[in-house]
Amino acid sequence: MAARDDHAQYADGVKATNSNPVTYQQIQAVVADDFTTMDQQVFGTLNSRVKLVMAVSQHVIDAGGKRMRPLISLLCSRICDDRPSAKAMRLGAITEMLHTATLVHDDVIDASGMRRGKPTANATWDNPTAVLVGDYLIARAFNLLVEFGSLPLLKLFSDGTCDIAEGEVLQLQHQHDPEATESDYMRIIDGKTSRLFMLAAQGVSILHNRPEYEATFVTFGQHFGNAFQIIDDILDFTGDSAVLGKNVGDDIAEGKPTLPLIKALEFTEGDTHETLRLAIQTGKVTDASVIIDIVQASGALDYCRDKAEHESQLARASVLTLPPSPYRQGLLDLIELAQQRLY
Ligand code: IPE
Ligand code: IPE
Ligand code: MG
Ligand code: MG
Repeated sequence: MAARDDHAQYADGVKATNSNPVTYQQIQAVVADDFTTMDQQVFGTLNSRVKLVMAVSQHVIDAGGKRMRPLISLLCSRICDDRPSAKAMRLGAITEMLHTATLVHDDVIDASGMRRGKPTANATWDNPTAVLVGDYLIARAFNLLVEFGSLPLLKLFSDGTCDIAEGEVLQLQHQHDPEATESDYMRIIDGKTSRLFMLAAQGVSILHNRPEYEATFVTFGQHFGNAFQIIDDILDFTGDSAVLGKNVGDDIAEGKPTLPLIKALEFTEGDTHETLRLAIQTGKVTDASVIIDIVQASGALDYCRDKAEHESQLARASVLTLPPSPYRQGLLDLIELAQQRLY
């Protein structure tokens, strides 16, 4: 169970803000057996005859990762029907496969060297290998989705996967663009990040034929995803790469106008403003700490923390409309855990 030990390693990096902190292991424990089966299927359902496909996939999947999207599928499944659901476990593994593919592609686009505490696929092999194996993971995910025999589920995931790809392309379109706005940013993260959280939750209501939960699951996935990405973008300025398992500062180096930079541009003027503008335009930063200091001093990170908390609040409100259960509590705890990463 190497992968599960790795989940624990990430959770240990979460600092408590109160005497009774939520841990990732506690949330997992609510669906422990389902989680183990799902986890085994993420790599276990890959069956390529091409050795390189298997080697690259294993490298990324075995490195760990929190398996947060499948955990959401498993909790939502138990909310729909409190019995083990092999289909939900399979859907969880599929969402993790799609997520892994987006990370493998994302690391090529962002020229990132570290992921889940290990060298990225692009750094270990090369960009063409990472792109093609990412493609394979998406293709295999759809291969497995077809086996459910549900056209509505297939349509949901195929529309959603288009939105995810569009989100990443939109982000690329705004790379080095100091004119990018908060609404551009929200459109980007809605696609590249929140959409998969929505699929993980909504897909399960389709599997269980529980349309009464669909809107709530979608709202939860949307706002939890928004909060999660805003927090990730704050951590790219303030985080510790050993805890995150990926390099910090990649966003500035790539001239990515994430919310902290968009707001810092808005909140500054004169030379400071010009320094930031140039950093986004060129991505050439000799001393990243100068940019980090400007962003911190501008109040942009406070704005982002408030925005993340607001999105988390919307996610909480939707979850609270569900009937009380340990699974509902699991979703609420996930929201808290994401927020705790900031402190
Ligand atoms: C990373 O997602 C990509 C973002 C949406 C910020 P996770 O933080 O869930 O990555 P893993 O799966 O745990 O590595
Ligand atoms: C999230 O964006 C990536 C995807 C949703 C595919 P980031 O570029 O911020 O993710 P990290 O920081 O590399 O994990
Ligand atoms: Mg990235
Ligand atoms: Mg990031």
